[in-house]
Amino acid sequence: MKLTAPFLTLGLSVLYGAVQVQASAVFAHFMVGNVQSFDLSLWRKDISLAQEAKIDAFALNIAYNDKSIYDSLKIAFEAARLQNFKLFFSFDYAGGGPWPKGDVLDLASLYFGRKEYFTYNGKPLASTFEGADKSDDWVDIKNQTKCFFLPDWSSRGAGPASELSNGVADGLFAWAAWPWGSRDMDTYTDAYYNETLTKVNKPYMMAVSPWFYTSLPGWNKNWLWRGDSLWHDRWVEIIDQQPEFVEIVSWNDYGESHHIGPLYDHAMGLFESGKAPFNYAQDMPHDGWRQLLPFLIDSYKNKRPTITNEGLVSWYRTSPAGACGDGKTSGNTASQMQLEFPPAEVSRDRIFFSALLGSPASVTVTIGKHTRSADWKSIPDGGIGIYHGSIPFCGSSGGVTIRLSRNAKTITQISGHSISLANCQKGLTNWNAWVGSNTATTTISATPALSRSQQVCIEGTGANDKFADLCAFSCRFGYCPLSACVCKALGAPRTPPPAKYPTGYPAKGLSAAYTGLCKYSCERGHCPADICSPTKQELVVPTVSEFSPPACIAGTGKSKKLAGLCEWACAYGFCPIGACKCTKQGALPAGLTWENVGDVKAVEGVEDFGLCDYACHRGNCPRDVCAKVVT
Ligand SMILES: *[C@@H]1O[C@H](CO)[C@@H](O)[C@H](O)[C@H]1NC(C)=O
Ligand SMILES: *[C@@H]1O[C@H](CO)[C@@H](O)[C@H](O)[C@H]1NC(C)=O
Repeated sequence: MKLTAPFLTLGLSVLYGAVQVQASAVFAHFMVGNVQSFDLSLWRKDISLAQEAKIDAFALNIAYNDKSIYDSLKIAFEAARLQNFKLFFSFDYAGGGPWPKGDVLDLASLYFGRKEYFTYNGKPLASTFEGADKSDDWVDIKNQTKCFFLPDWSSRGAGPASELSNGVADGLFAWAAWPWGSRDMDTYTDAYYNETLTKVNKPYMMAVSPWFYTSLPGWNKNWLWRGDSLWHDRWVEIIDQQPEFVEIVSWNDYGESHHIGPLYDHAMGLFESGKAPFNYAQDMPHDGWRQLLPFLIDSYKNKRPTITNEGLVSWYRTSPAGACGDGKTSGNTASQMQLEFPPAEVSRDRIFFSALLGSPASVTVTIGKHTRSADWKSIPDGGIGIYHGSIPFCGSSGGVTIRLSRNAKTITQISGHSISLANCQKGLTNWNAWVGSNTATTTISATPALSRSQQVCIEGTGANDKFADLCAFSCRFGYCPLSACVCKALGAPRTPPPAKYPTGYPAKGLSAAYTGLCKYSCERGHCPADICSPTKQELVVPTVSEFSPPACIAGTGKSKKLAGLCEWACAYGFCPIGACKCTKQGALPAGLTWENVGDVKAVEGVEDFGLCDYACHRGNCPRDVCAKVVT
């Protein structure tokens, strides 16, 4: 039989359907190196907590050269067997250096065949943290183990990562879970992955994380990224976008403050080895961040979860930003070529709260003697689901109570950690969050009217004023293209105004990224003249993405000693706020070639915030400031 074109198309779509047979899954990134002290019962305890949260598997982060993992894995797989839980490996190529191929194969032969090992379409799933330089290894590893390979090669970007070693990756994971500076989390990186992977029909794994603060100078890490409403916003983005996989970062990476698992005093060794100024995880539980996961995960999986226990979760820092020293922590990090900000400009002095409710309720927040009622910033369409809001500290200090009530009756409340000017540790701000949660004592039964597939985006925004304007209009009616807009809320489809007006094109000087939005909006009566034009205009092809945040392109030193290095490095986007002042922003210039000159550090008495490491490996190593480390 001769195949006709339409038949071929049909055949392909059936095939496409076949690839997507397995339901979506949610994992949590688990640092095996942190739990050398775990016995079988502790492994079982953490696994059962993950199961309660409806997490499908742990992605076991294992670093090469960490001999402790071999014993830990034996216990972990036994615990998983007893709990009927799944595990898979995330080979960490950065922590202890790249994994040799033979060692990966050894672990594969021990564990890939285990019943507790997570499989996707019948193949054992293997992931990584970085390791793009070793992509060739995986051609053989895949051939020998028949694994499904889903690496995180974020440092390369979606396009290049997908092409490494003839497309050896079967899908990609992006470690892009945190927003830039004081911005809210967006989905432009996810859109790039989605577009790249859709073309080759491979799945995407999206990252979600509640927070980020690390101060481990021993490992050259001291920055924060904006947490604030991230845990709420990002789940909306995930439920909107519907990636095949989701990975929560993390279960127990205490050193980066994004754990959602329990704290264990005996798993805190990293604060010593990383030379933290103090243990910033201690007394800062994050368990509350798991409370809404069953509802969120079911929603992501297109179910309509019935709410029986209404609940409240709240999180905040325990001292206002100005109260203690900032610990030289930056907001953003030059080590990833980002513009840096004072941390207080990124992390807000606010109490954040989310509630799972069957009908509207109100929140009051008490700090010390002051009680205020707070507003929801986000209300679920239809009233059943997750509500979210925040309220500023407003200079108050003292004990904290967050109370959820309806018709003057308390539903539930959280008595939280105090907020105080005196909550400094060693004189420094703890930029980590305290998280609390509670559930109602009386049960209800409320089920959202619509599943995800019956909903559309009903609120959106965009990367700049122009995108934000058009997206605010069109996302309301479900037209919210991932490539240009960021969805902020889902709900029942709204009837758009009739498409009875003349069409529109991007205005002069704008790019093709506005094409769809101008057409949709103008035809429905929203046609701002500075963004859309009634006639075709010559389009601009941007040399850098319109959705990328600006970088530093010029700067000066804060001290004489570092002036030269700052002027040089800031021009390439490496402009640490501790040592330099950025004087001009623009598009990040092409990076310089890295050469291996061994370890370098600043000379005695100079704190260089990584300048020597950056510059010396790129051909500029002034001897009065930087020196090679002699071992
Ligand atoms: C896979 O391994 C077999 C046996 O070693 C070899 O014959 C084959 O060429 C390999 N295939 C690929 C794609 O490398
Ligand atoms: C890309 O996004 C669309 C729309 O959200 C989704 O249906 C699709 O599964 C995504 N593709 C990948 C590879 O994530």
